[in-house]
Order: sequence, then C-alpha cells, then structure tokens
Amino acid sequence: VPLQGHNSFGIVAKARALVRIRGEADLQALLADPAWRAEPKFVLGGGSNIVLTGDVKPLVLKVEVPGRRIVADGPRATVVEFGAGENWHEVVTWTLDQGLPGLENMALIPGTVGASPVQNVGAYGVELQDRFESLDAIDLQTGRVFTLDATQCAFGYRDSVFKHVPAKEGDFGLAGRALILRVRLRLPKPWKPVLGYLDLERRMQESGVPHPTARQVYDWICAIREAKLPDPRVLGNAGSFFKNPTVTPEQCQDIIARDPHIVHYPMPDGTVKLAAGWLIDACGWKGKSVGNAGVYEKQALVLVNRGGATGGEVVTLARAIQTSVYERFGIRLEPEPVVV
Ligand code: EPU
Repeated sequence: VPLQGHNSFGIVAKARALVRIRGEADLQALLADPAWRAEPKFVLGGGSNIVLTGDVKPLVLKVEVPGRRIVADGPRATVVEFGAGENWHEVVTWTLDQGLPGLENMALIPGTVGASPVQNVGAYGVELQDRFESLDAIDLQTGRVFTLDATQCAFGYRDSVFKHVPAKEGDFGLAGRALILRVRLRLPKPWKPVLGYLDLERRMQESGVPHPTARQVYDWICAIREAKLPDPRVLGNAGSFFKNPTVTPEQCQDIIARDPHIVHYPMPDGTVKLAAGWLIDACGWKGKSVGNAGVYEKQALVLVNRGGATGGEVVTLARAIQTSVYERFGIRLEPEPVVV
C-alpha cells in the first residue's frame, strides 16, 4: 500500500498492509483474527508528524473514527467530543460555526484529532492540554477501551504518555500500545481571547480592532500561519522539525554575551526557552538543502520536501543542522516528529 498520500512530508514509502479503523469494533475484529492478533501494529493518523525512512513493516492502522458532537453544555464550559479520525482544522472551524469559541488559536494545525493529544499540539499561546477534558483509547493487545484524563495523559511541551515507550510491562508510556478513538475538549465560558503572542498583537494593532471576536482571532491566526508555514499540499513538511530548547538562565547569559540578538523567552519555572528557528537561522541554514530535503525559506524551523526527498535525506539534513547548532551554541536540538 503506498503511503505517499498518508504523510504530509510526501515521502514515497509503502506499507505491507493497511487497515482502516472506524471504531473499536474494527480493531476488536482484527484482534479476534489469529492471523492479525500478534502482528506488530503502527497507528497512523494524518501523518503530519512523521518522517518515513523506509517501508513500514508493521500493520498500519489508519485511524478514521468519525464524529463531532456536543456532550455537555453547562454554565462554565461546553464539552465537545470528536472522533480521532476527524481533521483538526475542520473541527476547529466547526466549533466556531456552532458558536463555541476556544480553539481558534490552534486553527490550521495539520493532522487529525486523534494525533493532537499525542504531542500536545499548540500554537499562539494555547496548547491542547488547556482545552482537554478526556479521551477514549483502545489497547492494541487486548482490545479493551479505557478513558484517560489530563493527568493520566501526562502532557508536557509537545509531549504526552503516548510518546513514551515502555521498557517493560507495567512501565510508564503508551507508545505503540494504544490507539486513540475519541477526544473530548472543554471550551470554557465566558470566552476570553488569548492575544499575548507577539505576531497576534501586531495583527491586532494593525487592524485597529480593540475587542476581537473568536472568528477574528481565527482569521488572524490563519493569515499568520499561511504567511510563514508552507502548505503541506504544496510543499511537503511536518511543521516545526525541532522543539524549542530550554536552557538555564546562566547558559542563556553566556549565549547572549556572544549573540546579543538571540530570541529567548523566560519560562514560569525559571528556565529560558530559546527559539530553535532563530538558532538554525543564525547558523545560516535558511534555504539550504541536502539532496531534495531543504530548510524552508520563511521559517528555518521547518524542513521541507522539495520534491522526491527520501526520509534518509530529511534525517541527514536534520543531523547536519543539529551538529552545527551544537558546535556554535552548545545546544542539542531535539526533533519533534516521529522518525519511523
Ligand atoms: N525565528 C528566526 N528565524 C527563523 C524562524 C524563527 O529568527 O527562521 C525567530 C522568529 O523571529 C521568532 C522566534 O524565532 O522571534 C519564534 O518563531 P515563531 O514565532 O515562528 O514560533 P516558533 O517557535 O518557530 C512555535 C511552535 C509552532 C507554533 C508557533 C506559534 C514549536 C516547536 N513550534 O514555533 O508549532 O505554531 O510557535 O505558537 O514549539 C509545530 O509544532 O509544528 C508548530 C508549527
């Protein structure tokens, strides 16, 4: 089965077998079949956060669970539930159409609802964990359905329990062990816009709108993203390729002494977050390529497929960037997408 259309990098690779999962019954039927039961499995959502470096040997479970509904509407919040296979941006738009604001800052994030808790997606001052209520997932070995709340998901910056590989039975981590079926989000009332992000403030000042609606914020976010992030349908990519690293204030002072312009943000826990895009840019990588894999011209944090790139070329480019950032700043950049 070709996977080129199933990964936003547009890398050419094949899966030995692919099964579409529209609900728990589909997976339970698969587990009841002795031919498939013990087969290693790989869960695929929108494929917008993976780098395929070869053909995928495990059985690919393509998550296509549908559903959009309001589960509870109280005085302090509305809780909405979405099937894991729903497109993230479409459900953000749907909530606004229903008069339910709260997700607008996360408009245009690529991928599916089911993938959103895995890396705790976020943008422009709002992360999934800020709107998360609970999720239903299914155990890939037993077919048992279970529910997790935010604490159990162990959300961190672009991180959750679903990214951690358990070393042995009973260990922390659900990577490769569960498939997310449905996600419930809590949209607080009354709605308050989140406007602190610099790019957003700038748009607001330019527009002269003092009290924007959620729809207005949504439009601004879409415009900002369209201006600096490549559309994966046009130029293959997986969004930010590296996480923004955090350093101690002392390390940051050290770097400032040498590079006064470094973009940095103090964090509530006393550490300092550095803009990985700036670090990569400062090393001169913007617009550069390795084979057909390149660094996006308008945002150095995004690696792109200029056409026909292999996963190997993307990984080679990523390593070369890591090496030069390490040599210049002493900082190790951590990739954000999952390398398969
Ligand atoms: N910068 C440069 N050169 C570059 C790119 C960025 O100097 O080539 C500087 C910018 O001037 C800016 C700073 O770096 O001052 C930060 O850039 P930006 O505001 O574009 O945000 P980011 O840190 O690059 C993060 C997320 C994005 C998210 C945006 C907005 C990560 C890894 N990335 O990017 O998330 O949309 O903030 O909130 O946290 C994703 O995860 O795939 C993603 C796109």
